[in-house]
Amino acid sequence: MRVLVIHGPNLNLLGERQPEVYGRQTLAELNDFIATSARDLGVDVACVQFNSEGAIIDAIHGARSAYDAIVINPGAYSHYSYAIADAIASIGLPVVEAHLSNIAGREEHRRTSVTAAACAGSVSGFGARSYVLALRAVAQIQEK
Ligand code: DQA
Repeated sequence: MRVLVIHGPNLNLLGERQPEVYGRQTLAELNDFIATSARDLGVDVACVQFNSEGAIIDAIHGARSAYDAIVINPGAYSHYSYAIADAIASIGLPVVEAHLSNIAGREEHRRTSVTAAACAGSVSGFGARSYVLALRAVAQIQEK
């Protein structure tokens, strides 16, 4: 099974960006952790990061021909991007949303995810492990 992991805006700054919220792990370290965990699950992963909405939408469209599922952290776009939500709803692949922080327990504007509503489900609040739990979820969806 091939899974595309898409990191959204500002996640390139992990490690230096609000470490009290997002921890001290860099994006490269997070991607290593995801790759190691994926190997244990027997899943092939590729990780990409984009700051712009259009690039994320292009990556979602492009995954149709090369991947079986997507794990996505749309960052702040989660809270208002109907365009990313539409892209997720437009492809036939299972998509699971992951967030490092527990968005349900944060500021009011972060508590709604319009993109998660278009996904099979979402995992939030477990730091790097949110991505691994999301990978497990897509692997199990595919088993059905
Ligand atoms: C985030 C939560 C978002 O609200 C925020 O804008 C991010 C990171 C998370 O992983 O916890 O960029 O998606």
